[in-house]
Amino acid sequence: MRILVLGTGAREHAIADALLTTPGGHDVVVSPGNDGIAETTSLVRLSDITDGDAVSEFALANDIDLIVVGPEAPLIEGVADAPRERGIPVFGPGRAAAQIEGSKAFAKRIMELAGVPTGRAERAGTLAEAEAALDDHGAPYVVKADGLAAGKGVLVTEDRDAALGHVRHWLPSGPVLIEEFLTGDEVSLFFLSDGHDVLPLSPAQDYKRLRDGDLGPNTGGMGAYSPLPWLADRFGSERAFVQRVLDEVAQPVVRQLEDEGTPFIGLLYCGLILDGDRISVIEFNARFGDPETQVVLPRLRSPLGELLHAAASGELGGRDWPEFDDSVAVGVVLASEGYPEAPVVGRPITGFREALEVPGTRIDHAATAWSDDHEAMVSAGGRVLTVVAVGDDFRAARDRAYQSISHLRLEGAQYRHDIAEKVTR
Ligand code: AMP
Ligand code: GLY
Repeated sequence: MRILVLGTGAREHAIADALLTTPGGHDVVVSPGNDGIAETTSLVRLSDITDGDAVSEFALANDIDLIVVGPEAPLIEGVADAPRERGIPVFGPGRAAAQIEGSKAFAKRIMELAGVPTGRAERAGTLAEAEAALDDHGAPYVVKADGLAAGKGVLVTEDRDAALGHVRHWLPSGPVLIEEFLTGDEVSLFFLSDGHDVLPLSPAQDYKRLRDGDLGPNTGGMGAYSPLPWLADRFGSERAFVQRVLDEVAQPVVRQLEDEGTPFIGLLYCGLILDGDRISVIEFNARFGDPETQVVLPRLRSPLGELLHAAASGELGGRDWPEFDDSVAVGVVLASEGYPEAPVVGRPITGFREALEVPGTRIDHAATAWSDDHEAMVSAGGRVLTVVAVGDDFRAARDRAYQSISHLRLEGAQYRHDIAEKVTR
């Protein structure tokens, strides 16, 4: 198959490499990608990856058999609709179904109709409504902007004034959600969906806060690991947990969207919080998670290209769950100085060769570019890359990941030192 992957980040690097290395022998092109991805995969220039017509034209002219959309923004803009209407298999929901990520109020409505457990939330269109809802819930306060907010839409705080400040900031863009505070362990679980049936991938955990010990601001994700051996202690087995999320969350949501005439074809990312054995949804995303994908896909044994093509073609029904090997994976994100508020970019990064000499290690490039003279790789964004290591157990994988990242030199770089620290196996 010839597969076009849309997007720029470490997630797209991981997807492209998994398409190249899991069985199937595909030809993969990425657009727009970045210079780090270009080391292993061909890039193509598309003027605008949110433009469904332009993407369709390219796909038809280049015999593309499958389009895989990485990031949420083009999905929410509706990039998947035009190629799908023209008969090109697309892994990624159309504009209507992508609202599951694009609007928190839409997601809450679907969950309510599908009977999916989630935190109680009120929609507030005025400061007075928000204030009443905040006082009704009490501290800690959870305030969410309704639409896409590049990771800045959610505030969890003990401080009522800060909560109100967040409400004031977002109200001009539309109503906000005031949500019940949920405590517990966060889990990211991905489902492939063909619009009717779903198949699970392996669970992962993301570290959203910038600094060690879950301190500092929320980020796009500073690290991840997979699988989650502690799930077995609570649910009997990881499989039993995944089956519950499939039955209680993913399948009902996908059927609800199908019933509404807006089938969800693509990856349903279930962001869950577990309080004991109680499972609640904190968010859905309409695409692979970043950095979770970087630790989930290296463990996948089943052919990714064939699975995504089957999902895009309505053919997941009756299949066995995708298989994962027994190794574990740890991913650590290297971010620029100043991330997330004001990342400093354009600084040289060295040490790739030494970093990659550590066994079982790979680097997924998120925002790297060649300097103008092509002499050095430089940073080009907030999250620069993910170092991913696999091993037989978490100690081995973690040691490898941290040994590898210690070889990378980027002035002012930030990374967490405690990814998967508490996990034993
Ligand atoms: P979201 O963008 O919805 O994933 O929220 C970002 C982060 O805020 C989540 O990963 C959680 O850590 C936290 N969060 C979101 N909703 C809640 C909630 N209802 N209770 C506690 N923490 C939350
Ligand atoms: N890692 C969180 C996300 O992809 O949204």
